[in-house]
Amino acid sequence: MKSKIRKGIILAGGSGTRLYPLTAGITKQLLPVYDKPMIYYPLSTLMSLDMRDILIISTPSDLPQLATLLGDGSRIGINLCYAAQAEPHGIPQAFEIGADFIGGENVSLILGDNIFGGLDQIEAGLAGFDCGGMIFGHRVSNPSRYGVVEVDSAGKPISIEEKPDHPKSDFAVTGLYFYDPRVVQMTRSLKPSARGELEISDLNRVWLDEGELRLVRFDDRQVWFDVGTPESMLRAARYVASFADDGVLLGSIEITALRQGFIDRGQLQCLVDGMPTCRYKEQLVSVGINADS
Ligand code: DAU
Repeated sequence: MKSKIRKGIILAGGSGTRLYPLTAGITKQLLPVYDKPMIYYPLSTLMSLDMRDILIISTPSDLPQLATLLGDGSRIGINLCYAAQAEPHGIPQAFEIGADFIGGENVSLILGDNIFGGLDQIEAGLAGFDCGGMIFGHRVSNPSRYGVVEVDSAGKPISIEEKPDHPKSDFAVTGLYFYDPRVVQMTRSLKPSARGELEISDLNRVWLDEGELRLVRFDDRQVWFDVGTPESMLRAARYVASFADDGVLLGSIEITALRQGFIDRGQLQCLVDGMPTCRYKEQLVSVGINADS
């Protein structure tokens, strides 16, 4: 079945101050999470959801490095384009910058530092998405760090607050969002918050007030990392490494492209031939080229 959303945006800018000095000379999204650059993970999530048209938004100084890493996407069977966010004026700005790219279609936004382990619950959400907005909630022990969604007894969202001092629930809103094309207009109606940014929680509250926001609450099987601190980077790296030990390449854009049918084994072989000798290359051969099915 074709995905109900063909287009995805990865927001991969920001200043990454909580990771200083790691981020003094390089954007957070190019830092390693175990054996791959961080941006591979959100990119492979969008690809796994069958999105092939992807816009990457980052700072003017970081875009050239991201483009060097990923190119136009044709080698992995997708279309990648790039746009600059001159200043980090907030997550919803992605929809203003990406208005032409969105072009009247549904769109998904994923934050460049969000890593999702397991797709079943996201795919189920996507299958039920028609219009409006959809967010994904994950139970956390420190909700004040996140956008927090409060739900009624039927599990429907009733309030959303950004980094509240007194959270009304322990459900964090993760950095993956599905919207219909009205998101561009809605973003244009937002006012900057006290810290001078457009807030994604304000945008979600607009959909909520319209009665058009749906929440998928993840259960315990869903793994999610917001890789914004050294501790969460380490936890995410350990998680990815535990799969790699079993021959599973989480976040591999090449393997995802193969599984999705964006490339065939011959094309993967060409990609692998162009890589230097390294463990990742060996793994692509054993998991992708020499695998049984
Ligand atoms: O990870 C989920 C959380 O992400 C949500 O629960 C919050 O509602 C949402 O505001 C966001 O909170 P963070 O504190 O994690 O946002 P952060 O400033 O770290 O930015 C998230 C990513 O987006 C990061 O990769 C940098 C990028 N970004 C952020 C802003 C504000 C940009 O590229 N441009 C921006 O203007």
